[in-house]
Amino acid sequence: MKENELTGSGDRKIAWARQYMPVLMSIRKEFEREHPLLGMVVGMALHVEAKTAVLVETLRAAGAEVHITGCNPLSTQDDVAAALNTREGIACYAKRGASVQEYYAAIDRVLDAKPAITIDDGMDLIQRMHTARRDALDGVIGGCEETTTGIHRLRSMAADGRLEIPVIAVNDTPMKRYFDNVHGTGESTLTAIMTTTNLLLAGRRLVVAGYGFCGRGVARKARALGARVTVTEVDPRRALEAHMDGFEVMPMEEAAVHGEIFITTTGNRDVITARHFPLMKDGALLANAGHFNVEIDVKWLQTHTKLIEERDGISTFRVGDRLIHLLAEGRLVNLATPKGMGHPIEVMDLSFALQGLSASYLARHGGALSPGVHDVPSEIDERVAQLKLASMGLEIDRLTEAQRAYLSGWETGT
Ligand code: NAI
Repeated sequence: MKENELTGSGDRKIAWARQYMPVLMSIRKEFEREHPLLGMVVGMALHVEAKTAVLVETLRAAGAEVHITGCNPLSTQDDVAAALNTREGIACYAKRGASVQEYYAAIDRVLDAKPAITIDDGMDLIQRMHTARRDALDGVIGGCEETTTGIHRLRSMAADGRLEIPVIAVNDTPMKRYFDNVHGTGESTLTAIMTTTNLLLAGRRLVVAGYGFCGRGVARKARALGARVTVTEVDPRRALEAHMDGFEVMPMEEAAVHGEIFITTTGNRDVITARHFPLMKDGALLANAGHFNVEIDVKWLQTHTKLIEERDGISTFRVGDRLIHLLAEGRLVNLATPKGMGHPIEVMDLSFALQGLSASYLARHGGALSPGVHDVPSEIDERVAQLKLASMGLEIDRLTEAQRAYLSGWETGT
């Protein structure tokens, strides 16, 4: 593709992200020297925006030919997609607002390139390879998965004996979960809600459904901004944790009555449904930060209520005598609102460093891995933490030999 205004804007966004991704950039330097993916095709289905583009460039620098599409019909930034398409050895098929048919056609185009390694956010590539596109399983070494929902799906497939390739659970490693899910989702979800609505959080009653990694981040950061936060849960341990962290805990049916802003972060379906909408206050605002658009029953709103108005990123429905505002059609609010930019750059520096190193690990060791879900090797996790600390000039203590022996021994007591 020729360079034009769109590609220029995409290039500027990518250059901005690159400046704040020191960990990925240092891995890129190593990849430029060693070419761990030389001659391989990497197929990706990720949110196509600037930080992802820096990962794509890093994989290309490792010697791979990269074919990428989106993992959500509303999260693609078309200027970034256009900029990627000007790069040699990179093909991007994503477009914002793709229909379901177009979305899967783009997934198929990635699979047509016969990737040896896949990188998914939500498992759509791998699911397709195990169903409609089994031809694409030929020659695959393995995959990497970015998000909790993708890991749930992969583990279910593995439990059913249906997963035929090794997949690295990038989501589950500490350097991903404790930063991306907590801080990334926490900050970007609230930012997206505030920039889309221009509303104040201070003093507002905010309900967070799910107190997992993402929910904790959203709840804690909303409280830091002065919101009065309630948590709903189904897991008694997480509910107790939320309670002891100082949040109100109650069932959604009760929270629905009090809340003004609702944010779902469960990775589950039917969390806010027809049972809850009629209980809500006039002007209640609903947003989903979980992977798929099934947490809020959007279909019920669309078919049983009247759509009053559409603004950029906000659909307003009349339920009885009240208005309810739904953000981003119930899709990932931090990416699918018109100005949603996803996680902060520094957080994705860590997640994508893990992706880059995991892909390189698969290229070297994938053949020896059995089909199933595998942890990120702990040396990769630790290395990413070390690189990040070094990039910030932070130093930490080191274990002495005596301490190491003490921690690994059992003889010493009181
Ligand atoms: P998690 O498993 O740590 O937390 C989910 C929590 O929701 C659990 O504590 C679970 O008990 C609770 N839950 C399940 N069903 C519920 C229900 N009906 N009502 C109330 N609580 C319920 O998962 P994590 O890592 O927090 O991820 C959550 C979702 O967010 C996933 O879909 C994941 O893919 C997505 N995600 C989104 C990101 C974004 O950029 N918006 C970034 C990272 C993850």
